[in-house]
Amino acid sequence: MTTESGDAPEDRQTISDRHADTAAEVVPDQLGLYIGGEWVESASGETFETRDPTTGDVLAELQAGNADDVDRAVTAAQTAFDEEWKQTGPAKRQKLLETIADRISANREAFAQLETLDNGKPINEARADVYLAAEHFRYFAGVTRSLEGETVPSDGPRQIQTVHEPFGVVGQIIPWNFPLLMASWKLAPALAAGNTIVLKPAEETPLTALKLMAEIDDVLPDGVVNVVTGFGPDAGEPLTKHSGVHKLAFTGSTEIGKQVMKNAADRVADVTLELGGKSPLVIFPDANLKKAVAITNIAIFYNTGECCTAGSRLFVHKDIAEEFLEQLTETAESLTIGDPLLDDTRMGPKVSTEQVERTLSYVEKARDAGATILTGGAAPEDDALEAGSFVSPTLITNIDHDHEAVQEEIFGPVLEVFEWDDYDEMMALANDVDYGLAAGVVTDDLTKANKAARDLEAGTVWVNQYNDFPDGMPFGGYKQSGIGRERARETVYHYTQTKSIDISLR
Ligand code: NAI
Ligand code: MG
Repeated sequence: MTTESGDAPEDRQTISDRHADTAAEVVPDQLGLYIGGEWVESASGETFETRDPTTGDVLAELQAGNADDVDRAVTAAQTAFDEEWKQTGPAKRQKLLETIADRISANREAFAQLETLDNGKPINEARADVYLAAEHFRYFAGVTRSLEGETVPSDGPRQIQTVHEPFGVVGQIIPWNFPLLMASWKLAPALAAGNTIVLKPAEETPLTALKLMAEIDDVLPDGVVNVVTGFGPDAGEPLTKHSGVHKLAFTGSTEIGKQVMKNAADRVADVTLELGGKSPLVIFPDANLKKAVAITNIAIFYNTGECCTAGSRLFVHKDIAEEFLEQLTETAESLTIGDPLLDDTRMGPKVSTEQVERTLSYVEKARDAGATILTGGAAPEDDALEAGSFVSPTLITNIDHDHEAVQEEIFGPVLEVFEWDDYDEMMALANDVDYGLAAGVVTDDLTKANKAARDLEAGTVWVNQYNDFPDGMPFGGYKQSGIGRERARETVYHYTQTKSIDISLR
């Protein structure tokens, strides 16, 4: 690997040493389950390992939680709710959320390095995650003070008022693509609304959630947030089935999201789901090519394509398609792939070897069906990166829109490109997937932009930008991409239930 500054190529040993040194500094000492404010071992005594996807080395050994641990955590969360958190008012909760934000900011570089080690994302993207995580707590610190009820006008001699009350214990399950950020998207609104929590991080990337608990151990009362690490079927599923959990929030695959919803249905628990996507990005013929290429680059290659919002189906107008594809290919081929701990690196490894196999199996199927792989479609040829789970930026053309590589979420740096001529035909294809999480439009024509934004079946439409997440902008899916909206003021209402109080004035 060569760095952008033109230094000598790195070898495997240099990268391995850098990772070992960084791990020695930032992997937390406390790696137990975090239940009732204590670090404890799993009930079964079983453990599991999390690996560094850049080197393949084991980063840490963790406690593998199961149903007994989930039960302990729910009990701790219920006790904390009954004994203290229920009486903790909004001003106090606001201060606590601000303190959590401050603790994240104060440890920002260590959080970023830990995230890069555990997930493989480039350090600059990890830094952005950490910044956004802190800001998310700050945003919901503010929202905490705005949970007002209503007085409902009525003809009778009565006074009707509403109050928004927390559920009590909520269960939250998060994925591995933005580990700390997803934890903050879940924890901040649930705490703002006055709930206590049992959080299950992804087994691939549990470290930053545990570090967060270590950093805020003295901030929240014991048991307000509990973290049970472990595998989906062992630790996640019991959480979705626990009768003491009154609300579930899940981010991950649509397949597991459906299971979560079915389990919630058995006891009529509330559920918020943020699931997969296969988002279209539409380029109009008037688009500035350089800008369109830059936006496409962010849409599909940010976070190694491991974004639920990834703009993974591109519709470029045929008048500019040839030149656009030339520039996009050049950009894809010049992205700096390498050690994600280095500032210059633009793309690191995928989170795991399983995810590499999954991504490449879609590329293989596309190739078998006669598609053209314009670039990528394999691991980069670089000895220094051989131990890691790397995939080169991949562009695919000449593929049928019904093909499974187009219809299903690949979750890697793989873009399928379609040329269009007729707007209505293009829009019909753009909407012809089961998902509806996000979409993008690139044009300087306001009318076209607005029409396309209205026509696209998606929870978020970005115009002349992509993958941007300003706090307060509701985020969630149409169709099979989910239920509910995160990141916004309305999110706190997903973590409360409305009580009507009807007082007779007779
Ligand atoms: P997953 O949906 O299995 O995992 C997400 C979380 O759910 C993890 O914490 C996992 O432990 C938990 N989980 C797994 N099985 C569970 C169960 N039966 N009950 C409760 N919780 C359970 O996703 P996975 O296997 O990591 O990735 C598979 C594919 O899913 C990816 O290739 C990608 O296409 C998609 N995915 C989408 C995400 C998104 O943000 N939209 C995030 C992660 C994965
Ligand atoms: Mg899974």
